[in-house]
Amino acid sequence: MSDIFTSIFTKATSILGLLTTCGAVYRLVDFLFFHFTVSRDPLAAYRSDFPSHDESDRPKTYALITGSSGGIGFGLAESLVRRGFGVILLSNDEAGLQSAKQRLVRQYPNCASSIELVHLDAVRASVEDIQNRIISNCIELKNLTVTILINNVGGVLLPSPLFRVFSEYDSKGIDDNIDLNARFMAHVTRAMLPTLSASSALSSSRRPNRSLILSMSSGARSGIPWQGIYSATKAFNAAFSMALAREFRATGVPIDCIAVVPGDVLTDSNYTGLGAWSPSAHQFGEMILNRVPAAVSRHRLWMSPYWLHAIQIAIMDWIPETILCGVLADKMVDKKLMFEKEAQKQK
Ligand SMILES: NC(=O)c1ccc[n+]([C@@H]2O[C@H](COP(=O)([O-])OP(=O)(O)OC[C@H]3O[C@@H](n4cnc5c(N)ncnc54)[C@H](OP(=O)(O)O)[C@@H]3O)[C@@H](O)[C@H]2O)c1
Repeated sequence: MSDIFTSIFTKATSILGLLTTCGAVYRLVDFLFFHFTVSRDPLAAYRSDFPSHDESDRPKTYALITGSSGGIGFGLAESLVRRGFGVILLSNDEAGLQSAKQRLVRQYPNCASSIELVHLDAVRASVEDIQNRIISNCIELKNLTVTILINNVGGVLLPSPLFRVFSEYDSKGIDDNIDLNARFMAHVTRAMLPTLSASSALSSSRRPNRSLILSMSSGARSGIPWQGIYSATKAFNAAFSMALAREFRATGVPIDCIAVVPGDVLTDSNYTGLGAWSPSAHQFGEMILNRVPAAVSRHRLWMSPYWLHAIQIAIMDWIPETILCGVLADKMVDKKLMFEKEAQKQK
């Protein structure tokens, strides 16, 4: 009798072992395909595709990128222009926008007529400002076909120290950070939905068009000490995007929606205490766009486009809280000190 049980137990554990190994191999192969295969035209589904063989005949398709005079937003603008898209750059600094446009034109001399600039403060903008400056005075006035919205603007909006315990926030610090990171993207997305839906209805006989919304979250979405409000708003960005993705699928709206979850990226606002695992904003912009078709075809609600960030985030989700809390606290103390030293130097 005990021999039968031993034999059944051995078979069951072998089958379980085989299934676990198959699952692990499948996940590894999927990870490799996701991060290391690139399609020739990753944004083809979001391009207006009139049946003309002459590229100059083809009406431009635009992307609106919030917070794009610098950092990841500008990296995304470079990648989009390189792929033949027109871009609407939005930031709170008129001179910064002009300089971003000049930098794009220096790289791609033919793109000048397909770069639009919107000067808007994401913290203070009212719903009417968003409607007037982005929709009425830019997209509708210039009759632009926009199929991509990138909710990118964000960051930690505090005077030094950038990293602080929650009891040291004042009410302005709380409100400004929620407005910049969460309120603005919700209102811009709502204002843009009619435009994105109309653009995606412009299908040609050859290929149906879709629209795309990318929303920038962060590894901080899981809760980073000394960054309470930023972490919370980055969780908002991810949850909002994932809810919309499911809602659009359930109701047949042809808009793909993906939350982007980066680790550290080297930008104007994140420039110190970075590891070797931090790509430049330009590299990261390319990675985001290259991963879009793989994320859409897998029905992924969020993605970490850089493979090393994806491993970092998987480890963070996997290790026990007792260890994670200590690791995060140590990393943030180091980072806090480095930012404080930099701030001292700049005084
Ligand atoms: N860098 C990272 O390591 C990292 C990691 C995870 C997630 N992220 C997320 O990625 C996004 C971009 O980050 P980043 O590091 O590239 O930021 P960044 O270098 O600080 O660039 C931010 C952009 O937003 C604009 N901006 C700032 N305040 C604004 C306002 N009130 N109104 C309108 N535009 C404003 C800036 O231009 P002006 O100041 O000229 O207006 C600039 O173009 C953010 O959502 C951030 O949370 C970044």
